[in-house]
Amino acid sequence: MKSLLNRSLLTLLDFSPEEIRYLLDLSHQVKSEYTTGVRPGRFRGRSLAMLFEKRSTRTRAAFETAFGEEGGHPVFLSSADIQLGAKETVEDTARVLGRMFDIIEFRGFHQQTVESLARWSGVPVINGLTDRYHPTQALADLMTIEEAVGTLRGAASVYIGDGRNNVSNSLMIAAAKMGMNHAVICPASLRPEDELLRELQERSDCTGTITVSDDPQVIPTDAVAIYTDVWVSMGEEEKAAERKKLLQPYQVNTEMMHRADSAVFLHCLPAVRGNEMTAEVIDGERSRVWDQAENRKHTIKSVMLATLGLA
Ligand code: CP
Ligand code: NVA
Repeated sequence: MKSLLNRSLLTLLDFSPEEIRYLLDLSHQVKSEYTTGVRPGRFRGRSLAMLFEKRSTRTRAAFETAFGEEGGHPVFLSSADIQLGAKETVEDTARVLGRMFDIIEFRGFHQQTVESLARWSGVPVINGLTDRYHPTQALADLMTIEEAVGTLRGAASVYIGDGRNNVSNSLMIAAAKMGMNHAVICPASLRPEDELLRELQERSDCTGTITVSDDPQVIPTDAVAIYTDVWVSMGEEEKAAERKKLLQPYQVNTEMMHRADSAVFLHCLPAVRGNEMTAEVIDGERSRVWDQAENRKHTIKSVMLATLGLA
């Protein structure tokens, strides 16, 4: 396995199945340390820049607590307060932050911004969500599926809803890398990009299968997880009415959960009850969304430990 030291996590496409396996194993280890009160102080003397152009609860809280509880100094830099996006270029901001911080997190609109930060800062950059990808979410999703069902290879998963958003893209990549059978069920107009599907089919490190269908009636009966996300992602608010109409048949409800009787329900959160799923489903006994949210912290901690060479 290539060293993870100084690597940036911009998309899981850049990580091999062995590297993802390593990060998941480390995540299980740091979760068990956390739950037994062990705080080894591995980030002591280190600093983390957290850049946010978009809102966040889980991602911000996960980075900030994971880094801070082990002695590191996280600094929250919202786009409302810094020069980036107003008076300063990404390149200049990246060069300056790279001189002051050991590691950078970025959440925002363009994938190109996080790529430029990685290119110019000289320190590891972690993508905390862009319009295109949400790789740290997908790591937490894999960890949660693993906790719920034991093994990823050959497991059937379903994502239903907006098939071309950041969460769907990263989940597809994660599933393909880990040898899962992943079904994306979405309206034809919200299908994942053909180019990404083709890449996942052709790459030798992607052994899973990805299928896409627009039929919400056909849920694989052996699915171990049924996953959905909001119908309107951040930055697309003007599409709310159109999406509500288009995606109504794709709502995850009790009847749909019955089609795959042993599946757990997953959602990256935040969730809109009555839209992408009913309250009965997200608050029901097959929901694992709170474990999934907690696992953001453990997976993010493991990425920071690995890329800083502290694991
Ligand atoms: N799942 C997720 O990224 O949540 P936040 O938007 O609250 O960070
Ligand atoms: N697809 C959602 C995910 C939020 C965590 C969004 O981009 O708003």
